[in-house]
Amino acid sequence: MDKRIYLCLAHMSGNEMKYIEEAFATNWVVPLGPNVNAFEEDLERFVGEGKKVVALSAGTAALHLALIQLGVGPGDEVICQSFTFSASANPVAYLGATAVFVDSEEDTWNMDPELLEVAIKDRIVKTGRKPKAVIPVHLYGMPAKIDEICAVAEHYGIPVLEDAAEALGAEYKGRKCGTFGRFGALSFNGNKMITTSGGGALVVPDEDTKKETMFYATQAREPFPYYQHEKIGYNYRMSNICAGIGRGQMTVLDEHIAHHHHVHALYEKAFEDFDGITLKSNPGKDWNANYWLCTILVNPEVTGIDYEGVRRALDEDNIETRPLWKPMHLQPVYKDNPRYVNGVSERLFNKGLCLPAGPCVTDEDVAFIVDRIKAAYRR
Ligand SMILES: Cc1ncc(COP(=O)(O)O)c(C=O)c1O
Repeated sequence: MDKRIYLCLAHMSGNEMKYIEEAFATNWVVPLGPNVNAFEEDLERFVGEGKKVVALSAGTAALHLALIQLGVGPGDEVICQSFTFSASANPVAYLGATAVFVDSEEDTWNMDPELLEVAIKDRIVKTGRKPKAVIPVHLYGMPAKIDEICAVAEHYGIPVLEDAAEALGAEYKGRKCGTFGRFGALSFNGNKMITTSGGGALVVPDEDTKKETMFYATQAREPFPYYQHEKIGYNYRMSNICAGIGRGQMTVLDEHIAHHHHVHALYEKAFEDFDGITLKSNPGKDWNANYWLCTILVNPEVTGIDYEGVRRALDEDNIETRPLWKPMHLQPVYKDNPRYVNGVSERLFNKGLCLPAGPCVTDEDVAFIVDRIKAAYRR
């Protein structure tokens, strides 16, 4: 194929330019303004549950500001899902705290609630203190066992910060990911469910927390006529231009989600009686993944080819795929961090692949991808 099929390309609705032009026409070319306010309102309506939302420069910034407000500092520990992208854990390190990694369960590939409890108990015995926060992740848009995770965390009085960067629109028991914990982080990076080119947001419980988040995101300026600072602040607010893109994207978010579901259903049908390839799907009726990326596990004993062989073969056919995230407890940069592992994420990393699933992926693309996987399989 001449064109390359990408994992999840940005897809514009056509409404984005209207909001951007408005920003130029009214000279709101700054990190605040009507688009930022309206984008936040759109997001608040979308996630529901009476939550407030602050638009920020990145999902990573959202995680960082949440941890600051949870009082995380040097010497503290924060429990973080190991099977994730590094941005879930890095903000813990920015604050001089230590990420304690907890492995996944098989059903959702996300934080194992039982192992979480083992980890909390052991950290209390070993350090004499409770971890300051728990960061579960809804990886690839598959909701974690968030009720169980929140119940364990609540039992020990530890706040939950959900990393829902990949999970915009995913639901557990009919409730949107990012609204279960005290805080929820969203990402609008170029390859996510919607994009603002780069950007993110923090889902917060109330108006006061929204104000506090905005205070830290705008250099922690105190209310004086001159510039007075009593705390360390950050420059993390979203620009009014990016928020214009976000407003346009919100008009097609439901379509994007429906398209990801459609692509997943096509893969599901195609892999139905296909030994050696297992497509990840909702593990039960409570789950409604957004299928940000569709993921497969390759069993080389059946296929005769491992995930890396499939990845290389598809790359030659101009199809982008990606190995599953390498767990944080296997990353050199986190080699000395405490970890509670059960082998699940390491096994997934050694078997899994992400397949294209974005709004630009057509039915023909899916048929071609499946055909090329079958061809690689036969080789
Ligand atoms: C699981 C996860 N957490 C956090 C982030 C960080 O978001 P951002 O790139 O907007 O900083 C991403 C994506 O990039 C992600 O996939």
